[in-house]
Amino acid sequence: MSHQGKSPSALIEAESLPSASNTRYSPIPETVPAQGPSPSATDGFQAFHLHPSIMAGVQAAGYVTPTPIQMKAIPPVMQGRDLIGLAQTGTGKTAAFVLPILHRLLARPRGQVGALIISPTRELAEQTHETVTQLGRRTPLRSVAIYGGVGIYQQTQKLRDGVEIAVACPGRLLDHLWQGTFDPSHIEVLVIDEADRLFDMGFLPDIRKILQCLLHERQTLLFSATMPDDVRHLVREILHDPVTVQIGLMRPVASVSHALYPVGQHLKTPLLKAILKGNSMESVLVFTRTKHRAERVSQQLRGAGYRAASLQGDLSQYQRQAALDAFRAGSVKILVATDVAARGLDVLSISHVINYDMPDSPDAYTHRIGRTGRIGATGEAFTFVTDKDEDMVRSIEHLLNAPLERRRLPNFDYRARPAVGEFLRAPRRDGRRPIRSRRPAAR
Ligand SMILES: Nc1ncnc2c1ncn2[C@@H]1O[C@H](COP(=O)(O)OP(=O)(O)OP(=O)(O)O)[C@@H](O)[C@H]1O
Ligand SMILES: [Mg+2]
Repeated sequence: MSHQGKSPSALIEAESLPSASNTRYSPIPETVPAQGPSPSATDGFQAFHLHPSIMAGVQAAGYVTPTPIQMKAIPPVMQGRDLIGLAQTGTGKTAAFVLPILHRLLARPRGQVGALIISPTRELAEQTHETVTQLGRRTPLRSVAIYGGVGIYQQTQKLRDGVEIAVACPGRLLDHLWQGTFDPSHIEVLVIDEADRLFDMGFLPDIRKILQCLLHERQTLLFSATMPDDVRHLVREILHDPVTVQIGLMRPVASVSHALYPVGQHLKTPLLKAILKGNSMESVLVFTRTKHRAERVSQQLRGAGYRAASLQGDLSQYQRQAALDAFRAGSVKILVATDVAARGLDVLSISHVINYDMPDSPDAYTHRIGRTGRIGATGEAFTFVTDKDEDMVRSIEHLLNAPLERRRLPNFDYRARPAVGEFLRAPRRDGRRPIRSRRPAAR
C-alpha cells in the first residue's frame, strides 16, 4: 500500500482520485448523540489524531471535512468502544470504521489478521477492500478481499504472505476457517457492514458460525443505513456496552427526488426505453426482482442500442465485476441488476435509479435508491408500479412521510398489447416460471 517517493498531490493526479474538497453536506439531525465530546467539522480530520501515514491517505482521497457519522463515530471507535453506526446511504460510513482500524492496527505486529470486515456481497467486499487500500496507502498495512466465485488459492496465498485486514463475505470466509487457511485468533476488531442484512435469516446461521470462531474480547462495530427494531435487539446480543450513533432518520437521503410510473407489467420495457430516450441521464441503475429479468432487460436495452450490462447472481464473478467496472468507468451507461447491487455500492456517477420492479420492503427501497444522491449529490428515483404494488407504495410513502408523485408519459401508448416474448405477469415467488405470451422468446 505504500507509494514511496510520491507526494500525496502527485498521487492524486497520477491516480485521478475523486476530489471531495468542495463537498458540502445538508444538515442532518442527530437523533441519538454519541457520548462524550466529539470534534467539530471545522477541525477537519486533525481532531482525530490519526497517525500521519493515515492522514496522508485521507488527504490523497481528497477528504477535507469529516462527514457527520465520521465525526460522531470515529472518537468512540478509537476509544475501543463497541458501536452501532446508523447513517443514511452515501454518507461515509466506510471511512468511519476503516480509519480507526488502520490507526489501531499500526501499533500491532504485522502479518496477523487483526481486523475482519464482513460484507453481504462480493462486489461490496471488493469495494471496501479498495477503500482500505486507498486510505491505508501510506501505511505498511495490507488487506485481502475474501469472497466466493473466484479461485480460493490466491486468497490463501495472500493470507499466507501475511495481511492485517480481511474484508470477507460469510460463505468463503467459513471455507477458509474450516480449511485452516484463515487464522482468526488475533482479530481484535470485527465490523459487520450492512448489519441488518447480515442478521437476516439468510445470513444469520453463517454469521453465528463465524462469531463462534472469534475471540470474545474484541471490539465489534455494526453499520447500516437501516436497522429494523427486531434486528436491533438481536445485534445487541453480540455487543458489549455499545455506543449507538444515529445520524438523521432511517429513510432515503433528502437529495433524491422520487416519482412513480404506473404501468402494466408487459409495458415496463417499452416504458423504460421511452424514459431513457426522453431524459438526459448520466448513468442509470435499473433494479429488477429476478436474475432472469435483469439479464433479459439488459439484452433488450442492448438490442435497442444502449450501452447496457447486467449484474446478477447467475453470471460468473468475472462477468459481475467486469460489468460493475465498466459501469464505474462510464463505458456502460445502464446497469440492470438484482438486489445484489442494492447495498453499499458507491458509483458516484449514478444520476438515476429505476425500480423496474418494486423492491420487497421500504428498507430495500432506501438502499436501492441510495445508490444515487451520494455524499451530498442529487439524484432521481423512478419506480414502476403495477396494481399489485399499491401496498408497498403506501409503505414507502409512510417511510417518506409524503405522497409520491405519479407520472404518466404524454406520448406513451399505455394501451399497447404485449410484445412477443414479453412477460404477462411477474414471476411467481414460489420460483415457478412466469407465464409468457404464446410464442417463446428468441434465444
Ligand atoms: N469526509 C469525506 N469527504 C468527502 N468524501 C467522502 C468523505 N467520506 C467518504 N467520502 C466519500 O463518500 C462516498 C460514500 O461513502 P460510503 O460508501 O462510505 O457511504 P456509506 O455511508 O457507506 O453508504 P451506503 O449506506 O450506501 O453503504 C464515497 O465515495 C467516499 O469516498
Ligand atoms: Mg457503506
